[in-house]
Amino acid sequence: MSQLHVIDHPMIQHKLTIMRKKETGSKDFRELLTEISLLMGYEVTRDIALEDMPIETPLCPMTGKVVSGRKLAIVPILRAGIGMVDGLLNLVPVARVGHIGLYRNEETHTPVVYYCKLPEDIQQRMVILTDPMLATGGSACDAIAMLKERGCKNIRLMCLVAAPDGVAKVQQEHPDVGIYVAAVDQCLNENAYIVPGLGDAGDRIFGTK
Ligand code: PRP
Ligand code: URA
Repeated sequence: MSQLHVIDHPMIQHKLTIMRKKETGSKDFRELLTEISLLMGYEVTRDIALEDMPIETPLCPMTGKVVSGRKLAIVPILRAGIGMVDGLLNLVPVARVGHIGLYRNEETHTPVVYYCKLPEDIQQRMVILTDPMLATGGSACDAIAMLKERGCKNIRLMCLVAAPDGVAKVQQEHPDVGIYVAAVDQCLNENAYIVPGLGDAGDRIFGTK
């Protein structure tokens, strides 16, 4: 079963609470999401591969360790996943970025694919798939399946808020994919929105409602 990592550092909890408040506007919402994404990125990349790098300090030569950033790809699920990209790029500036376009049909709540553009060598990279909301898990599972069809073997899913249903679906369909979230909320409502959640993440990031 895929491992669930709840990254509930006090600073992340604090920032997430401000994001959840209904009166928080798009500018603050976006900035907080970027900050949390960077903080979550520390845990998601905790075991990322390092390479030796011979360097000289002012005192003597030594072999340092550097992250092999070429081995990482960030793949947001459009639209809302885009809000987590800048924070991760601040952490690993040389990572490549792919995009998967999915939206939920508002009546059936099932995902519809409309776009996919990934780095050419995606199958050689560790992929961090980003989406702030893991509700039914349909969008994440379809996006993971698309990545696997293209040869990806090392995939991590990074979300802000999850519902228990979404976590269970990813664990069942993709037991090899690690799940990283800042919070697991109570349940889904009749419209498959996460409760208490934070509303529609895409609308709050882009100010579309
Ligand atoms: C939201 C969210 C996820 C999806 C989660 O996107 O960003 O992609 O719903 O729901 P699920 O786990 O039940 O699939 P939405 O479909 O609203 O599209 P948007 O990002 O374009 O607003
Ligand atoms: N998508 C969102 O943006 N929010 C939810 O609570 C569920 C799906």
